[in-house]
Amino acid sequence: MTKRVRKAVLPVAGLGTRVLPGAKTTPKNLLNVVDRPILSYVVEEARAAGIEHFVFITSRGQGAIEDYFDANPEIEGALEAKGRTAILEDVRRDLGKPGQMSFVRQMAPLGLGHAVWCARDIIGDEPFAVILPDMLMMAKTPALAQCVAAYEKVGGNIIAVEPAPEGETHKYGIVALDGQDGRLNRMVGMVEKPPLGTEPSNLFISGRYILQPDIFPLLENQGKGAGGEIQLTDSMVELMKAQDFHALEYEGTTYDCGDKIGLLRANVAFALARPDLADAARAAITALL
Ligand code: UTP
Repeated sequence: MTKRVRKAVLPVAGLGTRVLPGAKTTPKNLLNVVDRPILSYVVEEARAAGIEHFVFITSRGQGAIEDYFDANPEIEGALEAKGRTAILEDVRRDLGKPGQMSFVRQMAPLGLGHAVWCARDIIGDEPFAVILPDMLMMAKTPALAQCVAAYEKVGGNIIAVEPAPEGETHKYGIVALDGQDGRLNRMVGMVEKPPLGTEPSNLFISGRYILQPDIFPLLENQGKGAGGEIQLTDSMVELMKAQDFHALEYEGTTYDCGDKIGLLRANVAFALARPDLADAARAAITALL
């Protein structure tokens, strides 16, 4: 019997270099896609997968993330008084329940592996999800829910993957599979940013993981890897020697909001997917072409 996945780690402490200067005073993951912050979408996705506790790994100057998920009596009171109930409901939709969110300071941006390690005490001894919030996933069944369903089927560790655009595998973490049959396949390896021509597949690690807590002691001793950072991938390779990893080619589309064009694409795609905005968005975009 597999333990249920109840907690998710959301590392948001990176510098956001590729979306500066926008990310200078607004944390990258609070930048808007259409009318709400990137984080609003991923928290909604996680809730749909049954996540009950959110652990944000933050850095200095990111207090606005806590404020976003907290009540704001002044704004809510003003909306209530003016009878703006639709906006009020929309604002309240994202609020956390008291005690449902934890915020941990990474103190220095030493890499994704180090960021995840910062959650060790709050996660404790249970499987957990990792969500890279700059990857927005548009999917009929929310991407993390697809991962949890795969986990309930095969246990162990699950990594969401998808085909990298032609010639771009060197930009991502790439998985090696033990044969390919359907969307859920056992993994035999993974490598961070392989030089072109050496990639073991075209499937990149796209930002949703289910991991066992045994990753934490490995992260604790993990040296620096690619880019001089403590890489989650390196510890997952170690853990794979002792535990099963499956790659899930999830059904949906990923929008990488971590760079300028990716953020723009996400804005266009999510506006076009909104029944209340699609027609006006299409007209506005077409008029620019
Ligand atoms: P990225 O490398 O995509 O984000 O890390 P970044 O560092 O913010 O972006 P650039 O390269 O400077 O433009 C993936 C995720 O891991 C988090 C980031 O916040 C992002 O959500 N991260 C990365 C941390 O929390 N801590 C780190 O030390 C590194």
